[in-house]
Amino acid sequence: MTVLDKLTSQQAIELENKYGAHNYHPLPVVLSRGEGVYVWDAEGKKYYDFLSAYSAVNQGHCHPKIVDAMINQAKTLTLTSRAFYNDMLGKYEKFATDLFGFDKLLPMNTGAEAVETALKLARKWAYEVKGIDENKAEIIVCENNFHGRTTTIISFSNDPVAKKNFGPYTKGFIKIEYDNLQELQEALENNPNVAAFLVEPIQGEAGVFVPSEGYLKAAKKLCEDHNVMFIADEVQTGIARTGRLLATCGNCSCESKNCSGSPEVKPDVLILGKALSGGAYPVSAVLANDNIMNVIRPGNHGSTFGGNPIAAAVAIAALNVVADEKLAENAHKLGEIFRAELTEFCKNNHLVESVRGKGLLNAILINDSEDSSTAWDICIKLRDNGLLAKPTHGNIIRFAPPLVMNEVQLRDCLEIIKKTITEFN
Ligand SMILES: Cc1ncc(COP(=O)(O)O)c(C=O)c1O
Repeated sequence: MTVLDKLTSQQAIELENKYGAHNYHPLPVVLSRGEGVYVWDAEGKKYYDFLSAYSAVNQGHCHPKIVDAMINQAKTLTLTSRAFYNDMLGKYEKFATDLFGFDKLLPMNTGAEAVETALKLARKWAYEVKGIDENKAEIIVCENNFHGRTTTIISFSNDPVAKKNFGPYTKGFIKIEYDNLQELQEALENNPNVAAFLVEPIQGEAGVFVPSEGYLKAAKKLCEDHNVMFIADEVQTGIARTGRLLATCGNCSCESKNCSGSPEVKPDVLILGKALSGGAYPVSAVLANDNIMNVIRPGNHGSTFGGNPIAAAVAIAALNVVADEKLAENAHKLGEIFRAELTEFCKNNHLVESVRGKGLLNAILINDSEDSSTAWDICIKLRDNGLLAKPTHGNIIRFAPPLVMNEVQLRDCLEIIKKTITEFN
């Protein structure tokens, strides 16, 4: 067999099972092509993608402007490492800091790396600016968080599958309940060693938990009062997914070039990944103002690939697509339709308990025990009916299509979802 041989779905699955580590449990479907909101399997069957690679493909599969930017840059210069300057990184850094309203950007590749970067930044700031005694800094995190898979990040996870037998764990984290201001206040009070509060504006992996109205703003205020950094992990919620350029934005005009106009909450540190590249390339970033970012000096942090010219070109193109095609507005509009239709549907269907979310980051809660296979079985039927989605934790199915979807397509998808669940009953 050569790499050019065309495989059947069955052959592809067998190869992965035999030669790949079993660190995922994929839905049995083998994808070989994507365009916009659609993907095709190895036998040519077409599906709506309702996961978007965990919200990385917000701009749709193989967006021509992003692909062109990638190809053109790949033909010119791919990687220099940061041992030398390259003529794309600075352009990208200026573009992204202007757009998101920060002084500086630190480029990385994956979401987990960017989270690690933010944690290091918080600790260094705590020792050098806040004046916390060496090795005493603590970072507040939330229960049921998902910030990635590194040893330090899983140290403050409470998912036993992600955590068990990977110890010893990194110290220095305080866990509080998500969406609980009282617990945040108690964790901050009388503890001069708190450096930062790390939070997802909506908990995506945990099952699309949207916090109470005003939670983020009040949490930011508490952090300010205690001289604690507010770090927003927008790896999944960012880049128009929730109907705004950032989930931490208020009602600012996301399509304008400056998102920092009237933010609901302006984080001290913003973490981005996934759709920062439209899913074309691993690109992540940490943004902060000079008073924080300037604690990082040569040798403190880095990555061979972080800030490479392809990543820079792709990220500029991907962010331009979001603005040009008004993807935040579209996500907001379609999200309202999606939740209204499914909420109505739930009233007469005992299998779906509720629907929740923001913009096009939504989930339905299946009315069955946490450890039943109902959500998985429904996803198999959705696949058979031409729509790909995947359960998150327990009996929750996340629905996160590419944001380039139009209303006709969305209504088609709603029909597929309703029909599938009705048949399942
Ligand atoms: C909120 C959040 N942070 C971080 C990550 C980790 O990103 P990556 O898988 O690119 O390391 C994810 C991935 O799902 C995420 O949802």
